[in-house]
Amino acid sequence: MKALILAGGKGTRLKPLTNTLSKQLIPVANKPILYYVLEQVVEAEIRDIGIIISPETGQGIKEAVGDGSRWNAQITYILQSEPLGLAHAVKTARDFLGDSSFLMFLGDNLIQGGVRSFVKEFTTNKVDALVLLKEVPDPRLFGVAELNEKGEITRIVEKPREPKTNLAVPGVYLFTRDVHQAIDRIKPSWRGELEITDTIQQLIDSGKKVRSHILTGWWLDTGKKDDLLEANRIVLDEFMKRDLRGEIDAASQVAGRVEVGKGTSIEKSTVRGPVSIGDNCHIRDSYIGPFTSIAAGTTIERSGVEHSVVLENCSIRNIERLSDCVIGRCAVVTRRGDGFKATTLFVGDDARVEL
Ligand code: G1P
Repeated sequence: MKALILAGGKGTRLKPLTNTLSKQLIPVANKPILYYVLEQVVEAEIRDIGIIISPETGQGIKEAVGDGSRWNAQITYILQSEPLGLAHAVKTARDFLGDSSFLMFLGDNLIQGGVRSFVKEFTTNKVDALVLLKEVPDPRLFGVAELNEKGEITRIVEKPREPKTNLAVPGVYLFTRDVHQAIDRIKPSWRGELEITDTIQQLIDSGKKVRSHILTGWWLDTGKKDDLLEANRIVLDEFMKRDLRGEIDAASQVAGRVEVGKGTSIEKSTVRGPVSIGDNCHIRDSYIGPFTSIAAGTTIERSGVEHSVVLENCSIRNIERLSDCVIGRCAVVTRRGDGFKATTLFVGDDARVEL
């Protein structure tokens, strides 16, 4: 069994962060989403992993993941030169996949409880494909499946205007080598992509057994700002443990499940978990509230921050209360100290400021 992780795509809905960082590397609870995916793949005992990368962001992915030895896995990078669809990505990975069955996992998804039982179900039941599904309130943005009473998929449609069920496709699939023949038979969709949903329909139409596995835990798609904050909240809530490695002075209060990295100093401040603070941060005269992740090298002074994600090497000074913020790397957010009432901005492309 091999795994194919898709880490291409442009991440349009997460601009401006994705102008310089691929969406799979955006951190949730101070860890890139892709690392959770890799952990879950390895936990399912798959170590031969291909990662699909794009020309725009592939280098960043390679630098972050390396040869995979950190996960005790072997990584092969596969360049998809144009974003022509998920089935096109599988086609591009044909040499890597060979005749092997494989787990396909979209690299910007978080699945509660991992994929171990899903992989086991596939290997024990000997089906031709297994597709993870999740009930969602509005399935129109996803692939949507219809099932028969045995839990087999009878029909699967990409982003239907009028969905027949609320069973969405989160982006975790298991295939045998039969999938390659099915891909050879499909045509690009209206959006010009070779769709994996059309491929699955093709498998069904040619008499193959395509089963479903309905996820009861959470599924976090981190495609937009609010989804990212929500993912950060849920992951901090579920996984954060108290682990204080930095220096916390006697005038500070650090309450609950808070992680503080090496070389970080906290002075005259209050931190209320769940919170993750990375290495070499400086927090002074400040309040850090629940569901906040602060990445390495960031300084926060005379400010309050809660329910937010702050990336590396930022500087936040003299801001009474920041809430529901996502702040990109090396950003400076400060209040002028000269009593002047004007708001002064120097923001990058696609930035969003709410005052
Ligand atoms: C893709 C798939 C879709 C799936 C979704 C999950 O959509 O085509 O079936 O439900 O990922 O995020 P895309 O993100 O390419 O619009």
